[in-house]
Amino acid sequence: MSQAEDHDGTRRDFLFYATAGTATVAGAAGVWPLVNQMNPAADVRALSSIQVDVSGVEVGTQLTVKYLGKPVFIRRRTQAEIDAAKAVPMSDLIDTGSENPNKPDTDASDINRVIGDREEWLVMIGVCTHLGCIPIGNESGDFGGWFCPCHGSHYDTAGRIRKGPAPKNLIIPVAEFLDDTTVKLG
Ligand code: FES
Repeated sequence: MSQAEDHDGTRRDFLFYATAGTATVAGAAGVWPLVNQMNPAADVRALSSIQVDVSGVEVGTQLTVKYLGKPVFIRRRTQAEIDAAKAVPMSDLIDTGSENPNKPDTDASDINRVIGDREEWLVMIGVCTHLGCIPIGNESGDFGGWFCPCHGSHYDTAGRIRKGPAPKNLIIPVAEFLDDTTVKLG
């Protein structure tokens, strides 16, 4: 296989996976990789940055997209979830760092776990910080957030580790809102 064919194959694979990722959201929203299909160099950009339309995500639900080979949870939190997260004193937390590269060197207060000041939205890499399983969402676990069944790690409604062997809060990816309904990852 020539180098050019090999390259095309890689690109097709990526587009296939991006399409599969869209399918997992059951029509709630779409995923648009930033691909200029006429420009091979765009592959690199496509892998490092995607835009996600979150307009179809209802309050109290979560969209999962695949980004850089990992699931990313995009949850639109209820007011009750936000209030619960805000009520937690820092002294109750196992990991007091925000683990948010968009707000470096900040503590794990609820506001530091969200993108900008959009308290409704929580965007996190959906990989347990213990040994890498994918936690279950939809108000799971003892703290109403996410639960990793592999070894029993419980995360709260801000994705902060509260109980179990995981050492860190769920990691937040580099992300920003481009407008009210578009999240850019990377
Ligand atoms: S991998 Fe999640 S608790 Fe061990």
